[in-house]
Amino acid sequence: MDINTHLTLNNGVTIPQLALGVTEMDDAQTQTAVTCALEAGYRHFDTATYYKTEYGIGQAISHSDIPRDEIFITTKLWNDDMRQNRMEEAFQDSLKQLGTDYVDLYLLHWPVAECYVDAWKFLEQLYAQGRCRAIGICNFNPHHIDTLLEAATVVPAVHQFEIHPRMTQEATRAYNKTLGIASAACSPLGTPWGGLLQTPELITMAAQHNCTPAQLVIRWHLQCGTIVLPKSSKPHRIKENCDVFGFSLSQQDMDYLNSLNLGKYIGPDPETFDF
Ligand code: A2P
Repeated sequence: MDINTHLTLNNGVTIPQLALGVTEMDDAQTQTAVTCALEAGYRHFDTATYYKTEYGIGQAISHSDIPRDEIFITTKLWNDDMRQNRMEEAFQDSLKQLGTDYVDLYLLHWPVAECYVDAWKFLEQLYAQGRCRAIGICNFNPHHIDTLLEAATVVPAVHQFEIHPRMTQEATRAYNKTLGIASAACSPLGTPWGGLLQTPELITMAAQHNCTPAQLVIRWHLQCGTIVLPKSSKPHRIKENCDVFGFSLSQQDMDYLNSLNLGKYIGPDPETFDF
């Protein structure tokens, strides 16, 4: 396992398992962060219309000498664009901001009630037209997936949702697996206000592995087999977060990290969100 490790999706497309999450940054910060990440070896960038970081990613890629086809870009269709039925315009805006003519993975950002089945049909069209290499969903619960699949002709390739040791999401991950859907972890570090990285037991375990708590958690994700998208705007953390291949966790370590599960979202709950 290394920074080039890829998982194979249900349509044969391969995806780098470790990505930089690119959110909560302005254009200049985004360009700096993505440039630093490219130099460190990241080849997968996770953004969304909602994050407003597509332009900075496009700028960093266009100023690098790395061919577009060696980079994997994930972006997402935002809720208002589903509601207002401006999905084609939104997709074209994303391509323009990113400075590309295709997206590697295009996701529905939320299961917006009354909209997400029609929005999925739109993603299926994009996929059939070859304008994105894979399509998927975010923040669905199993019943949303069931509703989607009743109308779908394409099974989602990826499901991105909140996963970390305080929210291990074992049931949804297992459900995805039975359907051939890869799980991807957003908020993988439990977000700063979640306090996960400050857990004393986790700090102790990290010291035993001569790594930081963030590296420990990222390694847990990788060994769980999930795609993992730690966000950082800081060059030293971007490098730290991909320096996770020089150690491994034992089954006992994995069991302990799994036992931290509280089963509660830190971010919005898909059952009650109101974006
Ligand atoms: P920053 O961008 O200032 O580095 P998540 O991906 O779970 O949402 O977590 C992202 C948050 O965690 C960001 O606030 C980010 O801050 C912080 N973060 C990212 N990498 C690390 C790290 N290695 N150690 C501590 N905090 C980190």
